[in-house]
Amino acid sequence: MSHDNRVFAVEAINLKKTYVSSKKEPGAWGGVKSLFSRQKSYVDAVKGVNLQIEQGELIGFLGPNGAGKTTTLKMLSGILYPTSGEAKVLGHTPSHRDHEMLKQISLVMGNKMQLWWDLPAWDGFMVLKELYEVDQTKFKNRLDQLIEALQLGDKVNTQMRKLSLGERMKCELVAALLHGPKVVFLDEPTIGLDVVSQKRIREFLKQLHKDEGCTILLTSHYMQDVQELCDRVIVIDHGSTIFEGTLDTLAAKFSDTRRLKLTLSTPIESAPKTGKLISLSEDVLVVEVTRDETANAAASLLSSLPVADLAIEETEIEEVIRQLFESGQSVR
Ligand SMILES: Nc1ncnc2c1ncn2[C@@H]1O[C@H](COP(=O)(O)OP(=O)(O)O)[C@@H](O)[C@H]1O
Ligand SMILES: [Mg+2]
Repeated sequence: MSHDNRVFAVEAINLKKTYVSSKKEPGAWGGVKSLFSRQKSYVDAVKGVNLQIEQGELIGFLGPNGAGKTTTLKMLSGILYPTSGEAKVLGHTPSHRDHEMLKQISLVMGNKMQLWWDLPAWDGFMVLKELYEVDQTKFKNRLDQLIEALQLGDKVNTQMRKLSLGERMKCELVAALLHGPKVVFLDEPTIGLDVVSQKRIREFLKQLHKDEGCTILLTSHYMQDVQELCDRVIVIDHGSTIFEGTLDTLAAKFSDTRRLKLTLSTPIESAPKTGKLISLSEDVLVVEVTRDETANAAASLLSSLPVADLAIEETEIEEVIRQLFESGQSVR
């Protein structure tokens, strides 16, 4: 088959979203005036996102707060109409909301529930069964399997409001996966959860992906989620894609520092002036230098110190992402 005719699980071509709202002037009079005036304000939330995700990939979708991740996921799942550009999910245009497409996708938002607060999750599952027209036996098997995998037990019979945040999230995941979607959009599924629940959900997602080969697009602020689950990441910032590739490549591209780790053959009295001192022990010296300085710094240290071995290390990916996230404005 020719490369160009492939049907991607998820594809976005120059996808854009501008939120339009009427500008409100401060004070009560401003509120009244805004009813009449045509003053509008515009937020370019997504300014041209490009994505090509193969079926079966598990992709980390990263970026600082306000980068446009949630907006993109909403457009991809057909909740929001794009301002321009094109989106395709399994060959369908999400905004058309074809039944055929809706049966094959799912969107889970860590900070928004679809199940009812006052009812046990079980009741919600029954409603979804009717909605998706899932066969009784198949449905029962799938439900049992999901409840088992997430170790929910009889929690599904307890009112949602009485469950812990982690238990509620697990119920949400069951609800979202009951119909066996081929493409799953997960927006911060582990946000605010305790580490044990985070780990369980991570393991569950890993297993789900392995068993079912579904395509997963995941956003998370927890690097452990991304490091353990995703082969490839896509980073957006200020509404545009700025990177796609592996985490290692991301670290190499965005970290502007390197660490030089020198094994010393004999102890040295004081740290050298080269770079920023990270640590110095009897036999190991670690200094940090900017990427551009790396070669010169290494040469100068090698010639001035009793060096037995030299290693050049990238900044930890965790640190790179932290810098990347912190660079964005913290709007949510
Ligand atoms: N309903 C909305 N109306 C106006 N602006 C919005 C709306 N939703 C989000 N935004 C703005 O769009 C930008 C992108 O938001 P969002 O997609 O939620 O980013 P992320 O999920 O990456 O944090 C932000 O500047 C945000 O304030
Ligand atoms: Mg978001």
